[in-house]
Amino acid sequence: MGFLHKIFVASGFLLIGLTTNAQKKSISQQVDSLLQLMTLEEKVGQLNQYTGRELTGPGSDKNTNKIKDIRAGLVGSMLNVKGARETREIQEAALQSRLKIPLLFSLDVIHGYKTIFPVPLAEAASWDLDAIGLSARIAAREASASGIHWTFAPMVDIARDPRWGRVMEGAGEDTYLGSLIARARVLGFQTNKLGGTDAIMACAKHFAAYGAAIAGRDYNAVDMSDQMLWETYLPPFKAAADAGVATFMNSFNTLNGIPATGNKYLQRDILKGKWNYRGFVVSDWGSIGEMLPQGFAKDQSDAAFKAITAGSDMDMESRAYKGSLVQLVKDGKVAVTLINDAVKRILYKKFELGLFSDPYKFSDTTRELSVLNDPQSRVEARNMARKTLVLLKNGKSVTGSSILPLQKSGQKIALIGPLGKATRDLEGGWIVKTDSNNVVTIFEGIRNKIGTGPLYAKGTDIAGNAVTGFNDALAAAKEADVIVLAIGESWDMSGEAKSRTSIDIPGQQMALFRAMKATGKPVVAVVLAGRPLTINELADSADAIVYAWFPGTEGGNAIADVLFGDYNPSGKLPISFPRNTGQIPVYYNHNNTGRPVTNPKNIIYKSAYIDAPNTPLYAFGYGLSYSNFSYSDLKLSNTDLSKNGKIVLSFTLTNTSKRAGEEVVQLYLRDLVSSVVRPVKELKDFKKIMLAPGESRAVDFTVDREKLSFYNQQLEWVAEPGEFEIMIGTSSDNILLSTKINLTANK
Ligand code: NOJ
Repeated sequence: MGFLHKIFVASGFLLIGLTTNAQKKSISQQVDSLLQLMTLEEKVGQLNQYTGRELTGPGSDKNTNKIKDIRAGLVGSMLNVKGARETREIQEAALQSRLKIPLLFSLDVIHGYKTIFPVPLAEAASWDLDAIGLSARIAAREASASGIHWTFAPMVDIARDPRWGRVMEGAGEDTYLGSLIARARVLGFQTNKLGGTDAIMACAKHFAAYGAAIAGRDYNAVDMSDQMLWETYLPPFKAAADAGVATFMNSFNTLNGIPATGNKYLQRDILKGKWNYRGFVVSDWGSIGEMLPQGFAKDQSDAAFKAITAGSDMDMESRAYKGSLVQLVKDGKVAVTLINDAVKRILYKKFELGLFSDPYKFSDTTRELSVLNDPQSRVEARNMARKTLVLLKNGKSVTGSSILPLQKSGQKIALIGPLGKATRDLEGGWIVKTDSNNVVTIFEGIRNKIGTGPLYAKGTDIAGNAVTGFNDALAAAKEADVIVLAIGESWDMSGEAKSRTSIDIPGQQMALFRAMKATGKPVVAVVLAGRPLTINELADSADAIVYAWFPGTEGGNAIADVLFGDYNPSGKLPISFPRNTGQIPVYYNHNNTGRPVTNPKNIIYKSAYIDAPNTPLYAFGYGLSYSNFSYSDLKLSNTDLSKNGKIVLSFTLTNTSKRAGEEVVQLYLRDLVSSVVRPVKELKDFKKIMLAPGESRAVDFTVDREKLSFYNQQLEWVAEPGEFEIMIGTSSDNILLSTKINLTANK
């Protein structure tokens, strides 16, 4: 144990997990005393983050001096190093440095570490905050057992453009749902307090507005009004900050001409100023250096100056801080107080994690072995995956019964399509640890239900022009009573740097679908993708559609659970599905025009397209169940809302079917006349409710002033007196109950 560690032990600092103010002060004091021992070079070292051998951005691993730099105290954190043994080895080098400050190990643990959960967009389709929190918890347990202190998740960027491949990593298009999910994920990763051996730091990214890249092209510029920024894009970040997220990551995009990384308004004025955020901000990979091609900085030194001034604390892989900050301070261009502030924020987190008491606390090979092999994680991954599947269509068979669920016996099934036996593709992007051999395929999932493998033919590839497999597919289909067609994207078609101008189902897969349809057998399409795809033809002519996203390690079992009715689907879309790319962006909470379409047959001089409807193919909040639900008997405690009052709305939800099932009831509202035009509807509450067959339940929602508030022209959060329409429904485009309330003048 080094002298510094002895000091901390002696001061009693090591008691982990206490929450008193006294102890908080003691962390600050410890940080201050450590800071006083540090040279300027060591301080700048804390702001420097290197990648390990794996790369998650452009560049190469040519810097052979990393270990030397670590020993010299010139590195604060490493990304892309994982494993209890590997992290321990590198931490040992850090503990050979003069002050023995431990490193932070960080990694993109986005939807699981060893046990892969559905991609984040899929999880958002569950509308189940507890389940989403649990998924993050299990990821943290596994990652922490492999030496990871810090995940670069959750991505809380609102995304309304499915051409942008990174829609996969977020919670979709809605700010309210996205903010709740941001909170659930942060608490799942971190628990209520850092310091436990399975609590890892979360990172709210990418600050800010990255999801609004022009034309859906990754890394592209963003141009948006302040109104839109505050109203739509910032709230999930605020929710993450309020939940105590330990770190933020800035982003690659420019926002109204200023790179986010060099953006003082975002990082200093809003985040560290108005929100009083105490954690630290890491740059995105190389984003400090990218201010050169953006035309915002003339050289690395200028970029370092602009980034640190703007509030970017840690430099991921630009090497700009390491190369320039010491000189900038010596030249008097950067005040040492700026450096001190950034270093203190980082050290504080190292103390909170308990790394000064035990720098190896996460690098324990015995724990790693047992946690990574805990069978319960797979049970939870399957539970989660079932909740994320969205039943988009369920037609009728010739006998008049619904196509789904399928029968486990007495019905011959042909599984067709390039994703039927896929493993890696079920996991989706951002897989950092897993071995795809663990994945349960759709074929295996069906076999687990019916006791024997279904008829199977691949038919074609995901991409490309191959049609030679059609004959085998037709032969299998002819023998079957029903065809399950597994089609969609490969894992690497969505995610970072995976923007697409066409979001059709690629290759010859739709030709395969047509060939299957031509057999006259019912076709159930199981679509895998990291984003909404344009699936009009399936919507028109498939007999049933299950949207399965990228469902993870237990994907095949989860899909089979839904196909055979062992799980009654309850997922609802967290993002609108466009009919074609020309409609993008299409989202439910848009503003009205002065010429809205009120009758689709009359679009002359209306805000409309002449070749497609304005409405999406499938709207935000949409998703079917094997049960049916009715909504009735809406009652209000009051129709007038005074300044500090509340209105309670209640209605009866009934499961009118013979199956137990879950419904996500959604509350939307619209401010009818206001000083800034408000969206036609905005989600303000929801509940997920399980009902037995025939059961009725009273459901309550409370509306208060907060729910009616918005940012006015001066960017003040206000509720304006007047009428509001309240809408309750089963999706954003299927409102079943509505009423009006009145916010009375400010008294
Ligand atoms: C770039 C991505 O934008 C970011 O989300 C990720 O965390 C970093 N690379 C590190 O891999």
